[in-house]
Amino acid sequence: MAFDANGAVLAEPQGDAVVKVRDVVKFFGQLKVLDGVSLDVKAGDMVAIIGRSGSGKSTLLRCMNGLEDIQEGKIVICGHEVGYGQSNRADLRRDVGMVFQSYNLFPHLTVQRNITLALTLVKKKSKAEAQRLAEQVLDQVGLADKMLSYPEQLSGGQQQRVAIARSLALSPQVMLFDEVTSALDPELTVEVLRVMEDLAKGGMTMILVTHEMAFAQRVANQVVFMHKGKVWEAGPTRELFSSPKTSEFAQFIGTGL
Ligand SMILES: Nc1ncnc2c1ncn2[C@@H]1O[C@H](COP(=O)(O)OP(=O)(O)O)[C@@H](O)[C@H]1O
Ligand SMILES: [Mg+2]
Repeated sequence: MAFDANGAVLAEPQGDAVVKVRDVVKFFGQLKVLDGVSLDVKAGDMVAIIGRSGSGKSTLLRCMNGLEDIQEGKIVICGHEVGYGQSNRADLRRDVGMVFQSYNLFPHLTVQRNITLALTLVKKKSKAEAQRLAEQVLDQVGLADKMLSYPEQLSGGQQQRVAIARSLALSPQVMLFDEVTSALDPELTVEVLRVMEDLAKGGMTMILVTHEMAFAQRVANQVVFMHKGKVWEAGPTRELFSSPKTSEFAQFIGTGL
């Protein structure tokens, strides 16, 4: 790891970990939600985080994205240290994209405007450049023809793809996805998963919390099983699924829940 003159961590060279999580402890009040979590994500990795409800998956993602403070340990994402206060928020937003279960599109703005808003405000792009980028990312998620639609005119799956496009438009180095398909019907889930698979194939570094076990097994190259606020088991997908080391993980994949 490299440090600058003030002891701050510098951006990691390519090929090294894009996300480093070390011995992270996070409390909500008296409740220890993350209990010594460590994790490395390398450029181009697609990491699936799985585990029972309440095991700390969303909290871990939110900590990675600087949305939650931590009490112990260290998180460095795309060269930004996060977890203790809110410094460098704008830089972080530019480098790290996050998509949630709820799409959070602005209902009174067209699809195009939903996407260009952050480009003009956060990235200071010209209107023309922002519109060009919006076209490009909408094409990427298969919604080029919905540019001038309003969110309510779209299906849930289409809205979620717009949310992904909006995040992509900022050209993040890493994308975090938290159960982005869990509010969708199965047929709409498929189209969103396809977009994520395309992104993974295109080399995007991605960390996703998901209940879609078949998808995780097929597309993720690394899997992290969380249990009781800890990384209970983690490793290359095939290895992990073919020989569970703990009864908790075996039980989890046995029941599928
Ligand atoms: N903002 C919060 N305040 C208090 N407790 C929380 C908060 N967010 C999550 N928790 C608790 O932290 C634990 C982990 O939650 P979460 O990270 O959402 O788990 P998962 O995403 O794996 O279902 C749960 O016990 C949950 O109730
Ligand atoms: Mg969650």
